[in-house]
Amino acid sequence: MSSHGVEKSHSQGAPFKFTAENLAKYEELLTRYDDVESALLPVLHLVQEQNRWLPTEAIEYVSELMKIPEIKIKEVISFYDMFYDVPVARNMVHVCTNITCSMFGGREIYQGLLKHFDTDYLTPTRDGRISLQKMECLGACEMAPCMRINNDYVGPVDLVAAIQKLEELP
Ligand code: FES
Repeated sequence: MSSHGVEKSHSQGAPFKFTAENLAKYEELLTRYDDVESALLPVLHLVQEQNRWLPTEAIEYVSELMKIPEIKIKEVISFYDMFYDVPVARNMVHVCTNITCSMFGGREIYQGLLKHFDTDYLTPTRDGRISLQKMECLGACEMAPCMRINNDYVGPVDLVAAIQKLEELP
């Protein structure tokens, strides 16, 4: 369960709508499902691809577009850790703190990264480069302790190597 609750969706203060390209992708997505509601997860991923996170304006847009009540969309967003209802940085870093990775120092790596980058759970670093998120098992236990930098899995890492990897991010 996500630690960001239904009641906490934030406004970005600007309207949201799909680009023409993403609107076409949205239309194509709908053809893959029997009903519109079943396409909600990939549609929310598409919104995040465009906007990084899911502000109130995006939820309203998706609700109108898909004819799904906003509350239902917010429930989905709050349930899944990979959906963000707060602004996040341009690089998402998921650090596994589940059992196997923790046995090899995953929690200490996560805490060490927060300290090094002077940030907190999901909060973008001051330069807007990095958001850190501790996660349950990333499904790569053989790489423990591991993390996912955007779509790339990295591991095993120690704190020094993790910092070095993140310092290289644009
Ligand atoms: S416990 Fe970390 S990837 Fe599985």
